[in-house]
Amino acid sequence: MSVQIFREALCREINVPDIALDTPFAHLDVDAAVVFAVLAQVEESTGITFPASLFRDCTCLADLEKRLSTSALSIREAARESSQLVKDFAAAAGTTDYWPSVASDQHRLVIAYIWEALKQLGCPLDIMPAGSKVVPPTVQPSHQQLLDTLFEILIQEGLIERVNSDHLVRTKVPLPSSSAAILHERILLDHPRHANTHRLLHLTAPRLADCLVGNADPIRLLFGSPVGRDLLQDFYTRAPMSMAASQQLAALFQRVFEPLKQSTSDPIEILEVGAGFGGTTGFILDALVAAGVPFRYTFTDVSASFFKTARQHYRTSDMPVSFEVLDIETVAGPPSHLQGRFHAVLSTNCLHATRDLAVSAANARRLLRPDVPGAFLALIEFTERIFWLDLVFGLLDGWWRFTDGRRHCVAGEGFWKQSLVKAGFGQVVFTEGNVEGKKPNPEVIVAW
Ligand SMILES: C[S@@+](CC[C@H](N)C(=O)[O-])C[C@H]1O[C@@H](n2cnc3c(N)ncnc32)[C@H](O)[C@@H]1O
Repeated sequence: MSVQIFREALCREINVPDIALDTPFAHLDVDAAVVFAVLAQVEESTGITFPASLFRDCTCLADLEKRLSTSALSIREAARESSQLVKDFAAAAGTTDYWPSVASDQHRLVIAYIWEALKQLGCPLDIMPAGSKVVPPTVQPSHQQLLDTLFEILIQEGLIERVNSDHLVRTKVPLPSSSAAILHERILLDHPRHANTHRLLHLTAPRLADCLVGNADPIRLLFGSPVGRDLLQDFYTRAPMSMAASQQLAALFQRVFEPLKQSTSDPIEILEVGAGFGGTTGFILDALVAAGVPFRYTFTDVSASFFKTARQHYRTSDMPVSFEVLDIETVAGPPSHLQGRFHAVLSTNCLHATRDLAVSAANARRLLRPDVPGAFLALIEFTERIFWLDLVFGLLDGWWRFTDGRRHCVAGEGFWKQSLVKAGFGQVVFTEGNVEGKKPNPEVIVAW
């Protein structure tokens, strides 16, 4: 497979018909000029730049083959293969119907929550004749960006339009004909597979007005009760959209590391950034066990408060997991004992909450082994805005901390690519497959 590209290039350069995999490079005329030419040919046909040190670290093609199984080439192939299976993951996780049917019902519900909140705050869109001026209510300064976003949603849905630059007027487009409470009951019945996502939204959205003016604390609503914490954990672990992405990522890990099971006795080192509720952790641990490679897993988060639950969980399942506090956005970078140590770093729904995606991604890159060409960063992140997220996570400060030029916490693929390249990654790939004509969201992003 991938070593064949090197073999053919080497044969051409030293002008021999074939080279046995175990022939030492020392027995061939492989000098610096040959290495340079071979790497240039490989780069031309694959688009991947391999370091010249590859030939110093390997004594023959067989050695190279082992090295390549964790190389950029196999990462690219694994990312492509796992991303072509997105329909299967979506079907298994129960999210195939999300865009064709659930999203529009969820949308209507979000609009109902927004207009009910605005009505409570003295902005009754339901009784305003078309053409009336809409004056946004005054809210806590910390929620101003959320309020602006709520108005953007109403503009996008055609309920309000902007006349001149700062003048908003009500249009003729009708509001949902049922209350949010009724729409919530209905969506639970109509889309039970996503019930806990609807319940999570219902934890904060009916209190939107109170939160906006400081009469309710969203942190307390979300984290202050076992119900809230369970719904959050459930969202990251078992919600169909989360599960589909975690399964895709797990397939990628298994595909990358399985070929190493015969050749590696040293453990593969994996680090998870912002592992939090461990929503993705379980999937990746299972994939590593299935791959049959020795491994060590470093579970990190900026807050140690998540470790107790995770520790209990992974002690019982006897996994080689250790725990470390790690803030991925410090200017000083990660602590030195973590730098340059990992074959792979993963992070799910965390980097978006940091100030600067490029700074955080550069820190994640510093954790990767510089001597392994295919050491990679894998992310699961939303790349398209979904309105209900604003009504839950948009109430928290983390959603609005960005200072890197984003317009919203959820960055599109273009911004992710730009940030990852700025962080020093040479290759960035996004999920290729579609489910019912839409990309999975959140999606898997891989960079190396
Ligand atoms: C939305 S949660 C996702 C949790 C987890 N990845 C999951 O899927 O279950 C985001 C996590 O990122 C962590 N986090 C936020 N800022 C961070 C930072 N600067 N460095 C590391 N972790 C951070 C939070 O503590 C939280 O656990």
